[in-house]
Amino acid sequence: ADAEAHERIRAARARLGERAVLLCHHYQRADVYQYADLTGDSLKLARLASQTEAEFIVFCGVHFMAEVADILSKPSQVAILPDLAAGCSMADMANLAKVERCWRELAEVLDAPDEIITPVTYINSAADLKAFCGEHGGIVCTSTNAPTILDWAFAKREKVLFFPDQHLGRWSGYKKGIALEQMVVWDPDLEYGGLTPEQIRNAKILLWKGHCSVHQMFQPAHIDRWREKNPQGFVISHPESSLEVCQKSDYVGSTEYIINTISAGPAGSHWLVGTELNLVSRLAEEMKPQGKVVQFMAPTVCMCSTMQRIDPQHLAWALENLADGKIVNQIKVPGREAELARIALDRMLALS
Ligand code: 13P
Ligand code: SF4
Repeated sequence: ADAEAHERIRAARARLGERAVLLCHHYQRADVYQYADLTGDSLKLARLASQTEAEFIVFCGVHFMAEVADILSKPSQVAILPDLAAGCSMADMANLAKVERCWRELAEVLDAPDEIITPVTYINSAADLKAFCGEHGGIVCTSTNAPTILDWAFAKREKVLFFPDQHLGRWSGYKKGIALEQMVVWDPDLEYGGLTPEQIRNAKILLWKGHCSVHQMFQPAHIDRWREKNPQGFVISHPESSLEVCQKSDYVGSTEYIINTISAGPAGSHWLVGTELNLVSRLAEEMKPQGKVVQFMAPTVCMCSTMQRIDPQHLAWALENLADGKIVNQIKVPGREAELARIALDRMLALS
């Protein structure tokens, strides 16, 4: 069945020609990644989506990425997600109802949150949350630019509400020299986030209680054990990992940064990598000719199960339909929401 799917993908692509572009995130499985026209981390893919002229942007990634592609592309272009079940469990940890309730509760404690707090959403979030940020003077960030975005946010207002990833928020705040006591976790399932009015008033960053289930697997002990055996080696992690893991790493950054850093590393070097397994396995293969050893941080297998959902069968099905003139699995953000989300995205792109 696999060989058949690959044949169907090749045939449909040949029929579509330049009308379709395949944008692929670095976590995509090898049997899909091989078809990428363009690859990148979330920031790079957002830019590529805004620049392509192709009629169909076939997004091999997760739902929020296809939404961003839709928002940033022209109205005549169509963003497609080959499997609609490819979500992001972290993005799902925040939703508009919960963020609006949080904003109302903050208003009770701080009077006018729109003058005091900048809402910052990680790009791993639904479009309506980006729209919320656009409407309330806020902004989007990615794993590449989060510390820069915090500078922008604090230049405007004294506090930041950061959602949905507490780890990226904490790491970025830490990089900016904000004391750990001034970064408090807002639990959206508790009234007032489970915080006292005093804690809210004293906080610089309110960190939404969300996380990535893949990156939470990485532990400081994994790094310690590896360093004992590889004292000259380098450790590199994605900032969705915990603060302790990031602090123990030599390098921290986005998926694109991880690829570039290891690629530029010395021949024969050893690397321990804290990010998704598909990417690490690919890097391990690609670096072999230069004698570099690339290892995955956790002892257990952990792939992003939703990224994994985009498989050759779904890709073949989507492409064949497009080639037959039938649009399937279009991701379309409604007008007003897209406009507001675009404001928050454009603020970010202007700074990156
Ligand atoms: P990047 O933007 O670094 O590619 O990260 C996306 C992501 O979902 C990481 O888990
Ligand atoms: Fe979301 Fe984590 Fe998967 Fe990235 S790795 S898409 S943050 S669940």
